[in-house]
Amino acid sequence: MAIEKVTVVGGSGTAGSAVVSALLASPFQLTILARASSTSKLPGGARIIKVADSHPLDELVAAFTGQDAVVSTLGVLATDVQKRIIDAAAQAGIKRFIPSEFGLNLRNARTLARIPAMASKGEIIDHLKAQETKGLSWTGIATGAFFDWGLENGWLRVDLKNRSVQILNDGTAKFSTSILPRVGESVVQVLKHEAETRNRYIYTQSFNVSQQDIVKSLEAVSGQKWAVDFLDEETFIKDNATQGDADDMKRIENVVFAQAVLDCDFEKEGLSNDVLGLQAHSLDAEIEKILNSAA
Ligand SMILES: NC(=O)c1ccc[n+]([C@@H]2O[C@H](COP(=O)([O-])OP(=O)(O)OC[C@H]3O[C@@H](n4cnc5c(N)ncnc54)[C@H](OP(=O)(O)O)[C@@H]3O)[C@@H](O)[C@H]2O)c1
Repeated sequence: MAIEKVTVVGGSGTAGSAVVSALLASPFQLTILARASSTSKLPGGARIIKVADSHPLDELVAAFTGQDAVVSTLGVLATDVQKRIIDAAAQAGIKRFIPSEFGLNLRNARTLARIPAMASKGEIIDHLKAQETKGLSWTGIATGAFFDWGLENGWLRVDLKNRSVQILNDGTAKFSTSILPRVGESVVQVLKHEAETRNRYIYTQSFNVSQQDIVKSLEAVSGQKWAVDFLDEETFIKDNATQGDADDMKRIENVVFAQAVLDCDFEKEGLSNDVLGLQAHSLDAEIEKILNSAA
């Protein structure tokens, strides 16, 4: 029987909100599982189940029983919680588990070497593979950098206010990137294409662009010249080596940015956009929306 009932864990976060919006607009019956102490605002229209903050296995199994799929959008640091959620999903007879990936190409050796913290996502995939014999299937979805989110908060090194951009190397490397609605759509389409996405890592995108393409689009849409500062990749990576202090999270985010624009061309890996019926978005149209909302 096809998937009908879907539970999202972590539905209040950046990725989670996009996934929840897309599922609410889909035919799937949505439940959001939240921790008891959470004060995050969750959207109306979904059934909400709260579990104790320690995520006890029995509460999770009870929450997942009768569901068909579980989507995790937990933050990267919640690895142990995610493993317990996977164990509970297997025990409850869940058919498909979508782990909290939604990012870089974690099969890229340079990305793994430069961001050791990403190994936790690999541990989650290994944990899922170990449950396959129990009947739990899984799909890891790589979407590349969240384009709209990354432009609006400056993570993609575009300063919308001062019209300036920082580019790594010459800025011609192509990379896959997704607007947040594409993250949600990717989840919905994976759940509708169970057979094609079973026990695999898949790649989706809104578009495949270079940092220079983004500058061109910013200039064309705004009708103004933008200042460009070129950064050397090796110096940038060296300057952002972790130092065991409170700024390490910021340094890791900077290296994640570098890997998102340098080693994230999913067209080289094989995109699932066509199989999932996901049309390309327009870079200019997305830039126009972002510039208008920042004005
Ligand atoms: N590609 C990109 O550009 C990009 C950007 C950002 C994130 N991501 C990826 O998206 C995924 C989700 O990250 P995010 O930034 O969306 O996360 P987030 O905004 O930090 O939200 C995390 C969600 O998980 C819940 N949560 C956090 N820690 C938890 C814990 N210990 N136990 C239970 N629930 C917990 C939070 O619930 P509460 O509301 O209760 O706190 C919230 O709903 C990650 O895999 C991340 O790598 C990708």
